[in-house]
Amino acid sequence: MATPALEALHFVLTREGLLDVAGKTLFLRAQPDAWVVELAARLRCVQPWKPMATVLEDAGLRTERLLLPGSGLHDSAWLLPNRQRESMLADVAAAHEALRPGGWLLVSLHQDWGARGLERQLQTLGVPMQCFSKHHCRVALLRKQEGEPWDAGVLERWSRAGAMQRMLQGRFWSVPGLFCWDAVDRGSALLAEHLPHNLRGDVADLGAGWGFLSDQVLRHCPDIDSLDCHEADAHALECLRRNLGLVMTPMRPRLIWSDVTAGVGRGRYDVVVSNPPFHEGRDADPTLGLRFIGAAATALRAGGHLWLVANRQLPYEAALEELFARSRCVAQRDGFKVLHAEAPRVIHAGRGGRGRR
Ligand SMILES: C[S@@+](CC[C@H](N)C(=O)[O-])C[C@H]1O[C@@H](n2cnc3c(N)ncnc32)[C@H](O)[C@@H]1O
Repeated sequence: MATPALEALHFVLTREGLLDVAGKTLFLRAQPDAWVVELAARLRCVQPWKPMATVLEDAGLRTERLLLPGSGLHDSAWLLPNRQRESMLADVAAAHEALRPGGWLLVSLHQDWGARGLERQLQTLGVPMQCFSKHHCRVALLRKQEGEPWDAGVLERWSRAGAMQRMLQGRFWSVPGLFCWDAVDRGSALLAEHLPHNLRGDVADLGAGWGFLSDQVLRHCPDIDSLDCHEADAHALECLRRNLGLVMTPMRPRLIWSDVTAGVGRGRYDVVVSNPPFHEGRDADPTLGLRFIGAAATALRAGGHLWLVANRQLPYEAALEELFARSRCVAQRDGFKVLHAEAPRVIHAGRGGRGRR
């Protein structure tokens, strides 16, 4: 189903007669709908979020995960920003760079995600802008005109603020828009404190983010054979690549652009660590964590271990009891709990992995 931001974008494109003149169009953080599919031949869809990229591809829209610098000039650019301020402004700067002179930029954002604040920022570009209200969203329309330049200093500041950068005293790379992008999450820190250092075998980090937990596993668990970092956000994978490359280890972790809720295989890991997400889009969704637990139970070999951290009020215990032979709460602090579950009850048909029942 189309989101309000996509519907509002379509409304303005149609009302202003911009669909017919859109030409070669860059669609940043693209989403699918029937009218989008009809334009497939002249659209370039960019979508870093794997679950949405899969929906786009399934609808027949070829999709790139990241917009690489210098990837050509476009007649139009449409943007459905995420809700993080630096990230949305960096996307505007990237869209401006990708436009040819005379090209149109449309940005559609839900009002609950700070659409008015975004408009105030866009005004600082010093060029005319039209704004429309529809479906609880605001759509801003700007044109890149010869002789009417957008403020280069502002654009440069936005690009820099939203780019990948060092944080935590230079120890890690991260990028605005990721979960807890400029700090170590307190829940993840609690899990790291309680992770045994004698983990062995094949390990997966589900929802690896910029890599704090994976880094901890690599540094403190010398007996592991492999580490797979599954993450839905392509920007996070770029940070993971740098962060894990800084750890001295003979083993090269695999970085996998995944939708964990669609499963990460059967019986292939000895250990799963995870700080699962509990938000999808605009809304809190406790079932997301449950789907991560289900994916972990399926992906673990017989006798395998799941180490999980969650907000204390999230109801994961019943699922762990159902899916694993043994489970317990290992620690609680600051509103978080660390849960350990062992020996998934899932029976895998066919070829078994190491240590199977
Ligand atoms: C709570 S954060 C934990 C991040 C990191 N492991 C840490 O400890 O800081 C959850 C992570 O899961 C990712 N995520 C959310 N939905 C996902 C999905 N369906 N598949 C894979 N990763 C997902 C998010 O992008 C986010 O990085």
